[in-house]
Amino acid sequence: MSNYIRAFSQDDIGIIQLDRPEVLNALNREMVDEIVAQLESFDQNNAIRVMIIKGNEKAFAAGADIEEMVHSTPLSLEMVNPFAVWDRISLIKKPIIAVVNGFALGGGFELALHCDLIVAAEDAKFGFPEVKLGVMPGAGGTQFLTKAMGPRKALEFIWLGEPMPAKIAYQFGIVNRLVASELVEEEAMRLAYQLALQPPISLRLIKEAVHAAVDLSLQDGKNLERKNFYIAFASEDQKEGMQAFTEKRPPTFRGM
Ligand code: CAA
Repeated sequence: MSNYIRAFSQDDIGIIQLDRPEVLNALNREMVDEIVAQLESFDQNNAIRVMIIKGNEKAFAAGADIEEMVHSTPLSLEMVNPFAVWDRISLIKKPIIAVVNGFALGGGFELALHCDLIVAAEDAKFGFPEVKLGVMPGAGGTQFLTKAMGPRKALEFIWLGEPMPAKIAYQFGIVNRLVASELVEEEAMRLAYQLALQPPISLRLIKEAVHAAVDLSLQDGKNLERKNFYIAFASEDQKEGMQAFTEKRPPTFRGM
């Protein structure tokens, strides 16, 4: 039973709708727990190939729940360790697409950055306003943004806490697809269906190798890539993909 999200599937796409519209989908801890548990459930579900996280027209999510944080102390944060659950998103093997309409601020932006791909509306509003609350990003924002934009641009945005236009996010490769707001969901579903036709084992091996490239040395990354390349040859889909090529027909990938 979820209080703050709705989860459903459309064909082999697993969809999580953030559902706390009265506070612009502000993320309290229970909501983050629900999102992560649902991602893990979709990840284990053989009928699901791709996942989507979306908000509503006004907000993807306007950040961590400020009401919940207002009385936090260093020790309460140390004991609850509220960001540990976010790390579990990085263990999800299947592709995750964030669909961003409206605000993606603070923890909301961080949730989108934890996803593999972002489809955003041209008028979406990204940003890290935490500095204006006398704090700073806590769910990976300084790290994700710096790796995407370099330290100077990241400092400018996080220091000033000003909104980042979606166009800038797109130019820095933070956003994959930028479309008119009424087309965002359609575009994300199109992308999801396209991915769902790809061989699932290749997708997960590629995801592991690409994310590892952010942290590993070039040689360690190449070693991991090589191991994953070899593993792909254990799959039926490798045989199907190569056979289909020689038979000049489209492949049908079954995720085995
Ligand atoms: N936490 C709690 N409640 C929030 C919220 C948040 N992050 N964002 C919005 N809300 C609530 C508002 O308090 C308001 O509630 P009431 O109707 O009860 O007053 C409701 O959502 C609607 O918001 P607004 O009336 O403010 O809507 P607006 O369109 O005028 O403004 C906004 C939209 C600019 C996004 C504004 O709501 C805002 O600035 N929100 C806070 C954004 C923010 O600072 N996010 C960072 C949080 S800290 C964080 O995320 C830390 C981290 O790294 C994990």
